[in-house]
Amino acid sequence: MDSIVIRESTYDVTLSYQYFRCEREQAPTILFVHGFPLDHSMWSAQVELQDRFSLLIPDLPGFGGSGVLMNTPGVARYADALAALVRGLEIEPVVFCGLSMGGYIGWEFFARHRELVSHLVCCNTKADADDEVTQRARQVSAAAALKNGVDQACEAMLPKLFAPQSITNLAMVEPIEKAMKSCPPETFGLCQLMMAERVDHAGTLERIDVPTLVIAGEHDPITPPDLMQRMADRIPDSRFEKISGAGHLSPLECPRVFNELIGSFLIG
Ligand code: MLT
Repeated sequence: MDSIVIRESTYDVTLSYQYFRCEREQAPTILFVHGFPLDHSMWSAQVELQDRFSLLIPDLPGFGGSGVLMNTPGVARYADALAALVRGLEIEPVVFCGLSMGGYIGWEFFARHRELVSHLVCCNTKADADDEVTQRARQVSAAAALKNGVDQACEAMLPKLFAPQSITNLAMVEPIEKAMKSCPPETFGLCQLMMAERVDHAGTLERIDVPTLVIAGEHDPITPPDLMQRMADRIPDSRFEKISGAGHLSPLECPRVFNELIGSFLIG
């Protein structure tokens, strides 16, 4: 992993990232942004795309090898940190590809840093803000993580991330469980509160003026395909794809299909 120090308003944050530079002329750069409470390793099956694309795969602040954002992070500050990373490496514009929480950050990235974005890939995510029940559940989960650590919450979450046919694949599931349980309780708690308070971006969808690929997993209970199809219908230049046999972690569960979708979307 490489790292870069970015300047926040009053202090510095170190961001850890993998960068694979493709030698192919004019190869697009894909910025892969992980979900919660994961890190860059959830994109391990996308590294093979480096033959065709440059790849930037960071750990979000507070996750993996990256330093923390002080005080309340906020989705907008996460988006700004990623924008500083892209500008720092001078690799704009990028294809922003975010999964779930990574997708929530993607709406802000697009709204705040439109000039850095050539395409969007929205995986297993949604644009709506949380309802009150979900917000309350996140507050409870944040408090529990700070008091007791994250293990219990991660074990409860794990079955919702995988399709029935993937959950028995321990070679796939165990590294994800390990990455989740490595999430510091402070990051876990702050991100739950951050997601509870995130802005509703349903109104942003009609204003998206870059080609957008929306990828759903057939068995995803967190961001179900029907919801994602309705979301895609509101984005002017969008393509919707549902991956059969995938759950919430479609890039990891069905990497061959996922990578083919990315390839045909960006290159044809
Ligand atoms: C994720 O995968 O990032 C989470 O499921 C997002 C969420 O909790 O809404």
